Amino acid sequence: MNNYKAHTSEIIFKLSLQIHQIDRIFINQPCHSLSRCLNCRKAAYETNSFNWRKAVIGRLNHVAIAVPDLESASAQYRDTLGAKVNSPQDEPDHGVTVVFIELPNTKIELLQPLGENSPIQGFLDKNPSGGIHHICYEVDDILAARDTLKASGARILGTGDPKIGAHGKPVLFLHPKDFTGTLIELEQL
Ligand code: CO
Repeated sequence: MNNYKAHTSEIIFKLSLQIHQIDRIFINQPCHSLSRCLNCRKAAYETNSFNWRKAVIGRLNHVAIAVPDLESASAQYRDTLGAKVNSPQDEPDHGVTVVFIELPNTKIELLQPLGENSPIQGFLDKNPSGGIHHICYEVDDILAARDTLKASGARILGTGDPKIGAHGKPVLFLHPKDFTGTLIELEQL
């Protein structure tokens, strides 16, 4: 029975893949959804016969850099690096002022502390000239991602419930000690 099931799912998978590939020829558009696009999913899965492990994270959404001087950091990205730099936005709920920089394939966020208890103040005290504060990966389903990661032993910061992030979308942060010293933000688009 199990063999029959595995065989059937293999056939279904191969058929879906072929349909997808034909689709791609006609639509001629890049696909960014891991959950909806079988072709992308195929690349993101580790295959061991048909024991797949589903990809939890998708695309890199942004890299956040904490800076002591938002104005000079913005000027550097705009004037020296020639990037598209937006105007600063105060995010009082997050204790930061943010400048979004749009790159062709992702975003950079420059963060400067705002108010008394900014969550990035400690980081800047340790790194006075600034540094990469966190990286943000996109997920299709933030609660499913959280539960999968929790089950694997990763720690979620704060209450463990998603908050609305600087982009108005639900976000969660993962403990840097569980991810090679990198603070990771997950964002559901
Ligand atoms: Co972020």
